[in-house]
Amino acid sequence: MDAASSRIALVSGGAKGIGAGIAARLARDGWRLVVADRDPAGGAPSGGRYVICDVGDEAAVAALLRSVAATEQRLDALICNAGYMIRKPIAELTLAEWSSMLTTNLTSAFLLVREAEALLRAANGAVVTIASSRARMSEPDTECYSASKGGLVALTHALAISLGPDVRVNCVSPGWILTKGPEPTEAEQAFHPAGRVGRPDDISGLVAFLVGPESLFITGAEFVVDGGVTRKMIYPE
Ligand SMILES: NC(=O)c1ccc[n+]([C@@H]2O[C@H](COP(=O)([O-])OP(=O)(O)OC[C@H]3O[C@@H](n4cnc5c(N)ncnc54)[C@H](O)[C@@H]3O)[C@@H](O)[C@H]2O)c1
Repeated sequence: MDAASSRIALVSGGAKGIGAGIAARLARDGWRLVVADRDPAGGAPSGGRYVICDVGDEAAVAALLRSVAATEQRLDALICNAGYMIRKPIAELTLAEWSSMLTTNLTSAFLLVREAEALLRAANGAVVTIASSRARMSEPDTECYSASKGGLVALTHALAISLGPDVRVNCVSPGWILTKGPEPTEAEQAFHPAGRVGRPDDISGLVAFLVGPESLFITGAEFVVDGGVTRKMIYPE
C-alpha cells in the first residue's frame, strides 16, 4: 500500500448530496473513506466503511471515533458536512427545532473534532467544515440555519488556532449547490455571475485541495463557493 492509499478521511453526512460527492472525489484520489450518516440506506465508496451515526449525538460520535481508532487506526482528514435547513417564520419555530438544527449543523462539528483530536494531531491532519453563504447573507425565515452556519465559520477559525500547527482547519461555504429539489429556472441560473448554480463537484475539488499537500499554508480560512452571488450588488429595478 502506498502512502496516498493509506490516508483515511471521515465524512459526516456523506450518504448523499455534497457529502457523497466529497467522499467519491477523495476515494478517486486514493483516500480510504469512513462515511458517517444517520441514513440507514447510505453507503461508502468502494473500499470504505459506512457507519450509521447521528453526528449530533455525543455517545454516537464517541463510538464512531473509537471505531476509527480501532479499525482504520488513523485519521488524516475530517469533513464536517452533515447539516439541514428548516425554513419557518421565527414565531413558528419551536425551541426543539432550533436546538435540533443547531445540534446537527454546529454542535456535531465540536463533537467530531473533540473526539478526533488525538488521531488528527498524530497524523498532522486537516479538518474542513461545510458552512454556507447564508452565514453572511439571508432570506427571510432562516434565522436558525444562518446562525448555525455563522457559528461554524467562527468555530473553524477558533479550532485552527487551538489545533495548529499540528492540524489545519478550514471552512467551505457553498452557495446554491443542486443536490435535491426542482431544476433551477434559466433566470435562476443566469442570476449567478458564474452562469449556473453549483454542483457537488464544485465543492469536492476544493475540499480535496484543502486536505491535500498543496494547502499546507492555509488554515483558519473560509472559502465562499457560490458562483459569485455574494459579490453581486443588487438594487431595485
Ligand atoms: N445544497 C446546497 O445548496 C447547500 C448550500 C450551502 C450549504 N450546504 C450545506 O452542505 C451540507 C450538505 O448539504 P446537501 O445539500 O448535500 O444536503 P443533503 O440533504 O443532500 O445531504 C445531507 C446528508 O446529511 C445527513 N445528515 C443530516 N443530519 C445528520 C445527522 N444529524 N447525523 C448524520 N447525518 C446527518 C443526511 O442523512 C444526508 O445524507 C449541509 O451542511 C448543508 O447545510 C448545502
